Amino acid sequence: MPQLTFTHGTQVNTTVAAKAGDSVLETALNHDVPLQHACGGFCACTTCHIQVKSGLENLSSMDDDEAERLEAVDGRTEFSRLGCQAKLVRPGSQISVEIMNLDY
Ligand code: FES
Repeated sequence: MPQLTFTHGTQVNTTVAAKAGDSVLETALNHDVPLQHACGGFCACTTCHIQVKSGLENLSSMDDDEAERLEAVDGRTEFSRLGCQAKLVRPGSQISVEIMNLDY
């Protein structure tokens, strides 16, 4: 199983066991991690923006729809992904992400 660490400043720091094939958002929701997802995971809102701190190579590659959405995001970097679109593709891998928008 992939291990996925979520952080958000000092408010969130948790590591969970994830299922290969699940998205970062699905993993967050399955473990009560407060990652925003206003559109419900349909690549339409960008509230699930994350910055990948390590393990980028263990995520699915970005498609054109995700890249287009991310172009509109303030604070986007080369490590930005949408949590609903980035899937964990390697069993046994380690991935660490910073949540940009908490879901209160
Ligand atoms: S939840 Fe809306 S783009 Fe990911």
